[in-house]
Amino acid sequence: MTTRIAPMHTVPLRRKPPRRRRIRNALLIGSAVTTVFAVTVPTAVSAGQSVVRDYQESRPEFKSQYGSWSLLNVPSQFRVNAVHSALLPTGKVLMIAGSGNNADNFTAGSFATLLWDPKTNVFSKVATPADLFCGGHAFLPNGNLLVAGGTRKYEVLASKVTNAAGVATVKNENPDDAAFPLAKGTLVTGRNGRSYRTTEDIVVPPAAHHLMNGQMMTMPSSTQVWVEAIDKGRASVVPGPSQYAVSGLTGGRAHNVYMLADKLTLDKQEYRGINGSYEFNPFTEQYVKTGNLNYSRWYPTLVGTKNGVLAVSGLDQYGKILPGNNELYVPTLRRWFDKPGLFRYFPTYPSLFRIQGGDGNKLFYSGMNTGYGPATVARTPGIWDLTTNRFAAVPGLRDPGMNETGASLLLAPAQDQKVMVLGGGGVGDQDTGTARTDVVDLKAPRPHFTPGPDLAVQTRYLNTTILPDDQVFATGGSAGYRGRNDSDVLSSYLYNPTSNRLDRAAPPHVGRDYHSDSILLPDGRVMVLGSDPLYRPGTNNQVPGSFEQRIEIYSPPSLFHGHRPTLVAPKELARGTTFGVTVNDPTHITSARLVRPSASTHVTNVEQRSVRLDITPCAGTRGHSCCCNGPGTTNLKFSLDRDESLTPSGYYMIFVTNQAGVSSQAGWTHVQ
Ligand code: CU
Repeated sequence: MTTRIAPMHTVPLRRKPPRRRRIRNALLIGSAVTTVFAVTVPTAVSAGQSVVRDYQESRPEFKSQYGSWSLLNVPSQFRVNAVHSALLPTGKVLMIAGSGNNADNFTAGSFATLLWDPKTNVFSKVATPADLFCGGHAFLPNGNLLVAGGTRKYEVLASKVTNAAGVATVKNENPDDAAFPLAKGTLVTGRNGRSYRTTEDIVVPPAAHHLMNGQMMTMPSSTQVWVEAIDKGRASVVPGPSQYAVSGLTGGRAHNVYMLADKLTLDKQEYRGINGSYEFNPFTEQYVKTGNLNYSRWYPTLVGTKNGVLAVSGLDQYGKILPGNNELYVPTLRRWFDKPGLFRYFPTYPSLFRIQGGDGNKLFYSGMNTGYGPATVARTPGIWDLTTNRFAAVPGLRDPGMNETGASLLLAPAQDQKVMVLGGGGVGDQDTGTARTDVVDLKAPRPHFTPGPDLAVQTRYLNTTILPDDQVFATGGSAGYRGRNDSDVLSSYLYNPTSNRLDRAAPPHVGRDYHSDSILLPDGRVMVLGSDPLYRPGTNNQVPGSFEQRIEIYSPPSLFHGHRPTLVAPKELARGTTFGVTVNDPTHITSARLVRPSASTHVTNVEQRSVRLDITPCAGTRGHSCCCNGPGTTNLKFSLDRDESLTPSGYYMIFVTNQAGVSSQAGWTHVQ
């Protein structure tokens, strides 16, 4: 049984809203709070209380107002640490664990990927070619999911580091030399007389000639390698830059080749990234190797742009955060291209959204991110123009120091170009956080954030999902760092972007913090999975936590509001066209949306977007009803905007919603 503690009692809100504001918010969420929290606010749920809660939540009136949760029955052989999840164009959910934040799995080379079909409830395992844990992902126009980066090595805490170590650079000053291998284990000697060894095989190229200001200059070659001291202890620590002699070299090489290192220390060694890159084909259900990344990346964001998929940020192969090296994947070539012209630093897992404007090559950085990077650099939201590599800050975000592990999304419909930010916390291993929600209208002449309704409590790792009726379902998270101090937030909300109202929804039964995801399913339900608490709840931060493998499914209130419309969608769709669909009750359909499937990890889901389809009235027929391709085939006409930056190519779900607010199940269509 999960211990239920109302986080607002254990972790004080960092920022108290002014009194007037608080009252308004209390009114906004008041009625829902009294009903829902009548059964959930106790610090622990006893068996009796659990029965009462189950009864309350099973009532039709409750479901129709707050929605309903159910636990997915996952057979034990299919339980994985679902760090990454994506909805595929086949309607199946892909869950990528890789080593799943489990060092034993990593050492054993045991990497997991799981598929689940919500229609048939069938699970299947997929062979996983590398440790894709903490990589990035983005959908390609053909429906494949590009997955790049992941884990090369787990972190080593300072208390476990016994031998001084660090990144070094092997230099060769001789332009007339040939490239030569330097084997793993090569000894190097410092000015302190201490010996170190290289930990990987490298190839050392010769120096190169460069023309500079009309003069030919010789530039020594630089090859990075990780080295560690032969002897344990502090005596081998070198706190500053120093030169080292490389053993085993003869002749001129002994003079021209040497090693430099900034420092060799007993400090914590960070996780390291890989440069592996794959496309997951949803139709063959296999990973296909692509060209490697130019830079190893751990915690990168992959985001679609006008010209391909951009990989941004991440820790490199030695655990150092990339200073701004970004690169572009061209799907037709299946290759990554270094983009020095787009050199720009972001903290890891930056939330970047494709937006309209200019020549259609802009991203909005919400300021939200997860993981690594200094607290003072690139934490401000703004618009990144990929044509000029200019970045224009967008002001007004409240609690600007609380952008780590905050949620953000492009609100529906995407035509409104509004981005919402929800919650977030202080940089690093801190329990500070914020209850803010702020919204920015990017179509405004001078975009700036304006306050939205506050969450009930400061929340990190909130998972947000756009529903077919434009509402945002937000759930879970924790007040403190990775659920510390039993701070998992067992509550959910429904945000209405039209009214700017935040209402309570049925609370989840399972706490979700770090490494959790949520995904809209084609049937209109929301799958919520993963969580990686630092400590086991209820143990006073004494017992290490374990990865949450239970999966919960949320059914929104509208699923309890009567008959659902049905829909047959076209298989292919072109932007800038009007097309016909078949629905069972055309006169009552009031809205239609193209919803791009989610690919989600670490509170970062830059794929989900919901694009409005305009319903075309037909003259001479009743209501919206019209006949497009002859009787009995299609009976409603929709049109799709021609702007590629609004509806990037790929697979989408079409949902229609009727005047009672009830949405259909999705029909899949391919936009290009
Ligand atoms: Cu992670």
